[in-house]
Amino acid sequence: MDVLANPPAVKNRDLAVGSARLQEVQKAVHYYVDNHHCDVIGRVFHGIPGREASVSLSPTRREAASRGRREVLHFGSYNYSGLNGHPRVMAAAEAALKRYGTTVSGVRLLNGTCELHLELERALAEFLGFEDCITYSSGYAANLSVLSALCGEGDVVLSDMLNHQSIIDGLKLSGADVRTFRHKSLRSIESALKKLPREQRKFIITDGVFSMDGDVADLPGIVALAEEHNAFVLVDDAHATAAMGPNGRGTPAHFALQHGVDVLTGSLSKGLPGIGGFAAGSKATVDLLRFGSNGYIFSASLPPPVAAGLLEGIRILQEQPELQQRLHHNENVLRAGIRAMGLDCMNSESPIIPVLMPAYEKTFELTRLLHEEGIYVNPVGYPAVSKNRTRLRINVSANLTPADLDRFLDTLERCSRKLGLQGLDLARTGT
Ligand SMILES: Cc1ncc(COP(=O)(O)O)c(C=O)c1O
Repeated sequence: MDVLANPPAVKNRDLAVGSARLQEVQKAVHYYVDNHHCDVIGRVFHGIPGREASVSLSPTRREAASRGRREVLHFGSYNYSGLNGHPRVMAAAEAALKRYGTTVSGVRLLNGTCELHLELERALAEFLGFEDCITYSSGYAANLSVLSALCGEGDVVLSDMLNHQSIIDGLKLSGADVRTFRHKSLRSIESALKKLPREQRKFIITDGVFSMDGDVADLPGIVALAEEHNAFVLVDDAHATAAMGPNGRGTPAHFALQHGVDVLTGSLSKGLPGIGGFAAGSKATVDLLRFGSNGYIFSASLPPPVAAGLLEGIRILQEQPELQQRLHHNENVLRAGIRAMGLDCMNSESPIIPVLMPAYEKTFELTRLLHEEGIYVNPVGYPAVSKNRTRLRINVSANLTPADLDRFLDTLERCSRKLGLQGLDLARTGT
């Protein structure tokens, strides 16, 4: 029988049978689909997503990808520094595309290195204030690779309870003894450290900027405790690179504490206009990672056009400190305006501004209303945050104008009033 002409019938076996975990996932699928919440998660973007974007509601199986298409102001992008689509970044990527093609078709240690990879790692190390730097295919891969390479059985790792999933997954792979500490609690870290012998290999791991709450790690306190108790410090700066510190050099530079951070990981797809992840540290540590971390050894290198765009992005950040100044001005204006409406931005102190909501349904309703009014924001709920901490998450960009901020605040004010959201006392039951 000709298999191509007569493909065998799909068996449609249910993979959730016998798995409590997958049955929970199935329940979530039904919740999103049956309530039409899928409209506003996974919306479709047309063209370059900059300050403005053209966005459709998520396509259903029967409807076209242009359903509910709107021209929107973008308040949900990780494009903190506004460099996505920058003419210089685009020109650099285009030139590299012509010269090197779309991929090097290999891993770094074999045939996957071109000059751009070396230049990018040198530029990142210098920009972030570390001796050396290594790149990975994503920030997620960087955390998985670094933690599984550097931490292992017999090590104790103290990890903030709100650290990103990539840290949680990387630590599972590492086999280390992981002890979660209360969010940003130095007391909780200290009490754990005091119970450990000085010679015990131990790590303190924290996000630099917390991706859901938008607050910043107490790095001075962590570094001081680490020094006192002989612990290594690892910081994930995914949402701080090109979004925090002088010229966007990140959380350690913000506190002038690069010397106190043993390894800084991060993403190349947020404040920086590309894709990929990195780990920065001493030359000796980065050498350990080049020869001992699986995401580097067993996964393909960054596409050269992406590396070239990133290099140009770093040059622009170094030349134009005003980009970061505008970013922080924008975030301050938005936070003050949102708080003045009686909405709760939690302890945000970065370009990530959560707006706490009373229920997931309301979050979706508000997101949809804002979409109709030409404003893009993301709804966030469980499992990204705990069930009673559902929220809108606003991501601010340097490229938003004063008129954009006014329009956003005016629209949010009208929509949130319509839904009766202002001045609610959303009891803080812990994050
Ligand atoms: C704190 C944190 N770390 C790591 C990552 C993963 O980065 P990437 O998207 O480059 O894989 C993210 C992604 O949003 C993040 O928020």
